[in-house]
Amino acid sequence: MPDAAARERAAEVVDARCRILLVSSPKGGSGKSVLSRHLLVSAAQTGIRAVGLDFDRQQTLTKWAARRARTREAFPDFAEAMVEPVTLQDWRAALRRTEGYRLAVLDTPPSVEDHLPAIEALAEAADLILVPAVCTQDDVDSVAPWIRALAGKGFRCSVVLNRANRRTTSYARMRGLLVKVGPVCPIELPQLEDIHVPASKGLTLLDYSKSRGIEPFEEIWAYVRREVGL
Ligand SMILES: Nc1ncnc2c1ncn2[C@@H]1O[C@H](COP(=O)(O)OP(=O)(O)OP(=O)(O)O)[C@@H](O)[C@H]1O
Ligand SMILES: [Mg+2]
Repeated sequence: MPDAAARERAAEVVDARCRILLVSSPKGGSGKSVLSRHLLVSAAQTGIRAVGLDFDRQQTLTKWAARRARTREAFPDFAEAMVEPVTLQDWRAALRRTEGYRLAVLDTPPSVEDHLPAIEALAEAADLILVPAVCTQDDVDSVAPWIRALAGKGFRCSVVLNRANRRTTSYARMRGLLVKVGPVCPIELPQLEDIHVPASKGLTLLDYSKSRGIEPFEEIWAYVRREVGL
């Protein structure tokens, strides 16, 4: 029988494991990078050591982090966000980069079909897969089979509706279609016209406490933390 101290040490080891959050969608422009950088900033502001792994050859997240590092030279009060450019070809090496962190946010390119074995390996390693989807028929056509495939393999996933407008009938229709296919995150991201503005300085809405549209990102962070046990 392990004594109390041994149990506590074991719990610490379990707790110290890096939680892996895979942000993946076969549809381009659905909000993967926007969501990834807001989650990284949330983690940093909470004092959780997090790393972003940028699997996209476009390096959207990497470039954003480089701009953030430059902004922090003048304004060091903005929380630091670490991002590493990695490749899907060498996903094993990429996963080794998570060592020493408590959270890794994996931003991926949209071309899921071209990299299926690598994406599936990342899905296997992930504690949670977030699938952003804009509330349009085109997005749902592309995302629904992906969610079905992930859920069918027993992976823990959640659709995050993006650019959502609750007043439209298309929102209700698209949400209804997705709910039938797999888990849908209880918080959605509304259309936020100025979301790209802070990104030009490597920042996010969360870096300005009075930003319009900050709440859904805070709530998604709370949801993610609970889901992955952070
Ligand atoms: N909620 C939103 N409101 C308004 N604009 C948004 C919202 N979410 C994302 N965008 C904008 O949509 C564009 C695509 O977003 P993003 O780059 O995050 O998508 P992505 O899924 O990473 O794209 P890709 O598949 O090309 O990597 C960006 O210009 C971003 O600013
Ligand atoms: Mg992207």
